[in-house]
Amino acid sequence: MRIRRKPWARPELAEWENCIDVPAENRGKWHSVFKNDAPLMIELGCGKGGFISKLAVAHPEINFIAVDIKSEMLGLAMRNIKREYAAAEREVDNVYIFSQEIMLINKVFSAEDMCDRIYINFCNPWPKTHDHKKRLTHNNQLMQYREFLKDGGEIRFKTDNDDLFLSSKRYFVECGFELTYVTEDLHNSGFDDNIETEHEKMFSEQGIPIKFLIAKKLTVSPPEKVASEPEKTISQLKNDDESTENVNKN
Ligand SMILES: C[S@@+](CC[C@H](N)C(=O)[O-])C[C@H]1O[C@@H](n2cnc3c(N)ncnc32)[C@H](O)[C@@H]1O
Repeated sequence: MRIRRKPWARPELAEWENCIDVPAENRGKWHSVFKNDAPLMIELGCGKGGFISKLAVAHPEINFIAVDIKSEMLGLAMRNIKREYAAAEREVDNVYIFSQEIMLINKVFSAEDMCDRIYINFCNPWPKTHDHKKRLTHNNQLMQYREFLKDGGEIRFKTDNDDLFLSSKRYFVECGFELTYVTEDLHNSGFDDNIETEHEKMFSEQGIPIKFLIAKKLTVSPPEKVASEPEKTISQLKNDDESTENVNKN
């Protein structure tokens, strides 16, 4: 996503104690950063932070980390978080943010961090086949997330993009996740535990249904090399999809 330069973002982030400058230093020690053993939830690709700011302020009993690669995005996320907590008359005590390339996320989290849940909202669909491996739901990334996600922990994934959603369902299953909830139209699904993101608002205003799934990490280890290629065509994926279509009513 294109975003205008924000010269204020880096200096303001550097001043904010909840923005971590060198996150790799806390690998395996994130619970001590929060100074408690509350559950840990991570948003990958938080963008402007509309989602994490509302989620974190509503759940003081949970620790949150929001990650994005762009300082401009993190700057906006920081301001959104500060605004939500000020409105609630609370200190920002359960959310940290930092800049990180998510394809290298294992440099900042390890099994000791015992993450309970990961949120991935409207990641780049990378439509060209040779770019699929950069998708935040691609097997290469899911196998990294498995290392710091607890057994039974979950990934909640939203997208507007049909192709990405179809492929992602396959990626999750190949990487040892069970799809416990799947809907092609989140806003008409009856699922009531939803906070709208900036992209979600934009796409739903355009009349595009929001696709959403919850994937639970199974204890069984998938094979070390999980082949997700060659990519299937949309019609092949749609055929495969019939088997997961009715999983969502629990
Ligand atoms: C399309 S935006 C979605 C933002 C927000 N989640 C939402 O739903 O409105 C994707 C965000 O992910 C970030 N991002 C994309 N690829 C990334 C990567 N490989 N590592 C870190 N951040 C990434 C981008 O900077 C951008 O802020």
